[in-house]
Amino acid sequence: MTGPIDAVVAIHNAFRHDMQHIDSAALDSARGKPGLEATVERFRFFNEVLEWHAHGEELAIFPALEEVAPSVAEAYVKDHRALDAAFDALNDAVSVDDPLETARCTKAFRYFLDVHLDKEDGHLYRLIRERVSVPDQGKAVAVMAGGVPQDRFAEFVMWLYPLIGDDDRENMTRIWQMAMPPEAFVGATQLVEAAIGDDWSELTRRMPELAGAS
Ligand SMILES: [Fe+2]
Ligand SMILES: [Fe+2]
Repeated sequence: MTGPIDAVVAIHNAFRHDMQHIDSAALDSARGKPGLEATVERFRFFNEVLEWHAHGEELAIFPALEEVAPSVAEAYVKDHRALDAAFDALNDAVSVDDPLETARCTKAFRYFLDVHLDKEDGHLYRLIRERVSVPDQGKAVAVMAGGVPQDRFAEFVMWLYPLIGDDDRENMTRIWQMAMPPEAFVGATQLVEAAIGDDWSELTRRMPELAGAS
């Protein structure tokens, strides 16, 4: 049964995979392989989504957690500021066109991002699942989802869906189906179809109601 927190799990997986691509490209680039600038440049949009996500957590998830597990969230706020610093360092290295320093920064960013996301999945969101009611989880996740600016939603879908597996795609789509007005959901599924190409058939196999809807 899909629950609201599954949307967060999907986005965490997308962050992991995108940063893995960015870091691998930065390392290959530092070793002299040409043509990887566009992959390294993904860090800009990656970080925009990361900021929307972290802001949404601080606005909605962490206050809900504070009610049921006081003083846990403050450590995660510190992590978010450390991620901001990781972005600033990477941005500086890219702007002075220093491939070695860029690769050092993507490695540090990736390492800390992975630690942060694993802690959130295994600790923070475990407490949310255990101690916050499903309707309240839904409200908090809806506030987070509202952090994606309307005019960037298409870009967000085109970024997200290629980075996640079939289970996460299904969960995310089911959550949108429950949360969005029908017309908005049809628009979202059109974007999903464009984002995943041939994999659309697997999603419609899992959710036959999508076939012909978009
Ligand atoms: Fe976070
Ligand atoms: Fe998170």
